[in-house]
Amino acid sequence: MASTMRREPLLQLLFFILSICSPKNTAAQPLKAESEALLKWRDSLQAAHVLNSSWSFLNSNYGPCHWDGIACSGDNTSIVKISLENQHLQGTLDHFDFAAFPSLAYLDLRGNNFSGSIPNAIGNLSKLSFLDMSVNQFSGSLPESIANLKNLVSINMSFNSLTGPLPTSIGQLPSLVNLTISDNLLTGAIPQTIGELKNLNFLDLDTNSLTGSIPAQIGNLSNLQLLFLEYNFLSGTIPPELWKLSKLTQLDLTSNFLPGTIPPSIGNMSNLYYLALNNNSLSGSLPPQMNNFTSLGFLYLSQNNLSGSLPSDICKGGKLIQFAAFNNHFTGPIPKSLRNCTSLSRLRLHGNQLNGSISEAFGSYPNLSYIDMSNNRLTGALSQNWGGCPRLEHLDFSNNHLTGKIPSSISQMAQLMEINISANYLTGEVPRGIGELSFLLKMDLSNNQISGGIPFEIGRLTKLQELDLSSNNLQGPIPEELGNCDELILLKVSNNSLSGTIPFQIGNLAQLQILLDLSNNMLMGSIPAQLGKLNYLERLNLSHNKLVGTIPSSLAGMLSLTSVDLSFNNLTGPLPNNPAFLNASAESFIGNLDLCGGLALQPCKPPSVGKSHMKSQKFLSIIIPVVAVLILIFLLIGIYKVWQKAMQRHDKRSILAETNHGKDLFSIWNYDGKLAYEDIVSATENFSDEYVIGRGAHGSVYRVELPTDQIVAVKKFNRTGSDVLTDMDFRNEIKALTEVRHRNIVKLYGFCKHPQCSFLVYEYIERGSLASILSSNKEAESLDWAKRVNIITGVADALSYMHHDHSVPVIHRDISSKNILLYPDFSACISDFGTARLLNPDSSNWTGLAGTHGYMAPELAYTMRVTEKCDVYSFGVVALEILMGRHPGELLSSLVILTRQELDVKLRDMLDQRIAAPGDQQEAEMVAAVAKLAVMCIDMKPESRPTMRSVSLHLSSPSRKHYLFKALQENHSNRYDAS
Ligand SMILES: *[C@@H]1O[C@H](CO)[C@@H](O)[C@H](O)[C@H]1NC(C)=O
Ligand SMILES: *[C@@H]1O[C@H](CO)[C@@H](O)[C@H](O)[C@H]1NC(C)=O
Ligand SMILES: *[C@@H]1O[C@H](CO)[C@@H](O)[C@H](O)[C@H]1NC(C)=O
Repeated sequence: MASTMRREPLLQLLFFILSICSPKNTAAQPLKAESEALLKWRDSLQAAHVLNSSWSFLNSNYGPCHWDGIACSGDNTSIVKISLENQHLQGTLDHFDFAAFPSLAYLDLRGNNFSGSIPNAIGNLSKLSFLDMSVNQFSGSLPESIANLKNLVSINMSFNSLTGPLPTSIGQLPSLVNLTISDNLLTGAIPQTIGELKNLNFLDLDTNSLTGSIPAQIGNLSNLQLLFLEYNFLSGTIPPELWKLSKLTQLDLTSNFLPGTIPPSIGNMSNLYYLALNNNSLSGSLPPQMNNFTSLGFLYLSQNNLSGSLPSDICKGGKLIQFAAFNNHFTGPIPKSLRNCTSLSRLRLHGNQLNGSISEAFGSYPNLSYIDMSNNRLTGALSQNWGGCPRLEHLDFSNNHLTGKIPSSISQMAQLMEINISANYLTGEVPRGIGELSFLLKMDLSNNQISGGIPFEIGRLTKLQELDLSSNNLQGPIPEELGNCDELILLKVSNNSLSGTIPFQIGNLAQLQILLDLSNNMLMGSIPAQLGKLNYLERLNLSHNKLVGTIPSSLAGMLSLTSVDLSFNNLTGPLPNNPAFLNASAESFIGNLDLCGGLALQPCKPPSVGKSHMKSQKFLSIIIPVVAVLILIFLLIGIYKVWQKAMQRHDKRSILAETNHGKDLFSIWNYDGKLAYEDIVSATENFSDEYVIGRGAHGSVYRVELPTDQIVAVKKFNRTGSDVLTDMDFRNEIKALTEVRHRNIVKLYGFCKHPQCSFLVYEYIERGSLASILSSNKEAESLDWAKRVNIITGVADALSYMHHDHSVPVIHRDISSKNILLYPDFSACISDFGTARLLNPDSSNWTGLAGTHGYMAPELAYTMRVTEKCDVYSFGVVALEILMGRHPGELLSSLVILTRQELDVKLRDMLDQRIAAPGDQQEAEMVAAVAKLAVMCIDMKPESRPTMRSVSLHLSSPSRKHYLFKALQENHSNRYDAS
């Protein structure tokens, strides 16, 4: 390294001068070796500039004891502490001379980019008591020489890429209190010698690839408080000795292959607060000793093969917050003590065979936010007590044997977002108070015996996205107020006895997408023409009604339709000009009067053929020549006009000169045809600066008001790029992108390519970019916390959709606050999806093109591989930016390794100060949960980042995100707390 060669002789000379001048000549002698070793190592590192100014004799009169991150013994004769956490350091330990630090007690390198193996020479640090190398990229196996570190109290190596087995010599560390090597690639079995670590309090080996069984010797660790072995491949029965660890407060064995039963001795663990045994192969019934827990806050038993009844006194201590035992074979009643368990916030017992009446089993729960009891055999009725759960967001009792009415107190669950009580035997009417549930997103009451009418108050549920009332005994009309639920993406009221006409207001449900099913009722009248406005709708079922008249030709406007069923009505006339109708099979139209057209039906007869229509034939024989002459005249006029226009255009010195390549080249694909290249050129006065609303690295964005009064945004690129137009794949890709319909993705209308310029035509979004709004104090003030969380949620939904739900996964590659735009209601809309790739289809070479500094995933510095996880990282940065009101900048890498408490504290100072701090506790929790989710997304290791689907899921229900993190924190709260 050039800098090394330049620096070393000079430093040696300086040190030599200093050491002669120093009055404490002899005392400085040992420090000479240590500081030389430090400098030699520093010079071997890349990106060590942070140390360059401090670790130098030039800027300091004092020597290494005053260098950043270095501390010496009281008499300044030896270095005892090296703490270089979160310094962006990059390099290896190959040039670190361990033998030069005989007194080192504390070595903290966490949160850097160190790689390579951990040298055997680490065994020279015989005084070391604290070692933290977590959150780096160290690889190779842990050296046996670690056993020489007899004073070691705490090791943390988590979040690296360590491989191989744990050395058996690990047992020779008599002082060890904390052993944390989670989130690595360790293989092999846990060595039996681990049982010799008599002082161990924390043992955390989760998220590795450990195999074999848990050694019985673990039972010797009588001081153990925390044991995390989750996410490994451990098999074999859990040794009975483990259950003797009576000081354990947290035990997590999630996601292994552990068979066997839970023995009565589990009752010894009377201090348990967190117990997670879910996702294993445990069987048998739970011992009654589980009724002894008095501190239990979290209990996870889901996804095993457990049977028998649930412990009746499981909430004995009154501290139970989360209880999940879903997907087992539990039978018997709901545990008695749950009735008065007011601490409860999440209860998931679905997918068992629980029986007994629920009428009296549940009380009121001030903190409950999520309950899923679906797919059991529960009987009884939903009591009025449910009104006493003001925080409830998710209520699911579907697929049981419930009877009785839906309690009217349901209207008191002011936070309710999802209710599913389908597939029961519920009777009575839908309570009118349901209109009060203004946060409701999903309501499924299907497959019951609910009677009465559909209350018009449902029209007040303006956030509702899915409504299923099918297969009940509902009567009366479909209320026209339903047309106010304009967020609906699914509406199903089939298999009832609904009568009256289909209200034309259904045509206002512009977001309807998944399904509109009104089938099997007694609906009369004609099909409203307004249904033609449902241009996102994919499936339409109006079958088995009494609909009459012709099918409105406006249904040609249902652009997204793929499945249609109009069978068994009294419809007549031609099918609308819509491929879903024209290509449908005869079954879709069977049982009507005389529908015609399309592939399956008889062709539509011209209105007048046959002898009985002599009169009209005569009429035709006159009219046809007249029409022909008229057509000819119009044609001639038309040709003249076109010629005239062409001549005019020829005169203009416009870039349209080469239009005669053929219209196809310039027409804007997939647009409705009314928009042509010419329109855009003339509307922008040949791309005059006057119309520019934004500029980026690749071109400028124009606001274009079309002759039709429609406003679009046009992104014009500086250069035309390679001749991609000939490439069919490219065309297809554009086509695919223009077909993307998601409320948080800016609609791409089309792409236009011309020898002199090419541009994309987008939906125009009123408020402009998030970046510009955050940078203006005035505008940022209008973004309260709810709006900010909503923006983050929208971005997450859009990314999740493009990564996971779109026909071909599309990576954005350039998520930043600049290309997140805001609608008038402040909801988010991502622009430029897929543009990065369109601009340069050779994706191996994209990094120079896309990606904005400060948002780009760190791995892109050393790999060209673009994955969805790059978007996840950028999303994390943007989410933090939204919460902080500014780009998180330097904070980025340090946030990842904060503990829960540290992050909470830090968050308070970090939040955008231009708006009031989150008001109530719920808002504060919401913001904190989103922040933590964002922090997970900026994990340096792509594989440790969550997928956008899981981010979106967690955001979609605040309860979920809140409790996810609660669980996560409990799980890992001690991970970094060793110091
Ligand atoms: C000390 O370091 C030297 C290399 O510097 C190495 O050869 C030796 O094995 C180490 N000693 C121990 C006890 O690890
Ligand atoms: C689950 O337990 C039942 C008995 O309760 C047993 O018959 C079945 O084989 C077990 N299944 C598995 C996969 O272990
Ligand atoms: C339409 O609804 C009827 C009755 O509810 C059902 O039998 C039929 O399968 C549905 N059609 C389609 C295409 O799903």
